[in-house]
Amino acid sequence: MLDMNAQHIPVLRLIGLQRTFHQGTREINVLAGASLDVWPGQCVALVGPSGTGKSTLLHIAGLLETPDAGHVVIAGRDCATLDDQDRTRIRRAEMGFIYQFHQLLPEFSALENVALPQMLLGRSRREGEERASKLLSSMGLAERLDHRPAQLSGGEQQRTAICRALANRPRLILADEPTGNLDPRTSELVFHELIGLFRSEGVAALIATHNLDLARRMDRVVVLDSGHLVEISPQAV
Ligand SMILES: Nc1ncnc2c1ncn2[C@@H]1O[C@H](COP(=O)(O)OP(=O)(O)OP(=O)(O)O)[C@@H](O)[C@H]1O
Ligand SMILES: [Mg+2]
Repeated sequence: MLDMNAQHIPVLRLIGLQRTFHQGTREINVLAGASLDVWPGQCVALVGPSGTGKSTLLHIAGLLETPDAGHVVIAGRDCATLDDQDRTRIRRAEMGFIYQFHQLLPEFSALENVALPQMLLGRSRREGEERASKLLSSMGLAERLDHRPAQLSGGEQQRTAICRALANRPRLILADEPTGNLDPRTSELVFHELIGLFRSEGVAALIATHNLDLARRMDRVVVLDSGHLVEISPQAV
């Protein structure tokens, strides 16, 4: 069982992660012993030049890929030996994911996109839609609940995706360039709202970003450098 009152242990522990890709005869050592503890409620920026392995690290932390060596521990539970069913359950119940491109379901409304993950965990449609409506309204989308993704602007789509990630009250959000697809002004605005919502929900987050202005406003900044995670002060970014 997961420790449900786990304020005293990290929500996410990455321990000595290693990952090598083989490209023809070439070996790419993307992760070479990357370690990190993320504590409840902390927002951590993950930075580093393109190709250093940020997405790879997030995929492993999100239990989508397994590392060659090392451990991912979610709220005290080592995920190395989980079967597919447990892995899916932890992903649904404990984590939320935000991608650069929203990946909303095109045939469903904003409200339904945020309600559906909750219904997958057994909540009623009414409960799901109530929370969805609350989350979307807090992101300024009260007038857009019935819009399908194609009827939303890019910023509105990303706001909806952020609400979807929070729908099941996860303890950890993993985000891969969540505002990377938006123009600079919208990106700034949505990021500001995202951090505000994360704080009010009390959720921890590991957020890969190329935007150093945004990174320096987080609680912590880690740089992926030669396969290792190095912590730097947000003021030093
Ligand atoms: N499935 C794969 N097979 C082979 N090489 C891969 C694979 N996935 C990623 N790589 C390589 O691993 C390295 C890290 O990729 P990754 O996508 O994690 O970087 P990133 O830091 O997220 O980059 P960006 O900032 O551009 O998104 C890259 O050199 C990439 O080419
Ligand atoms: Mg990436």
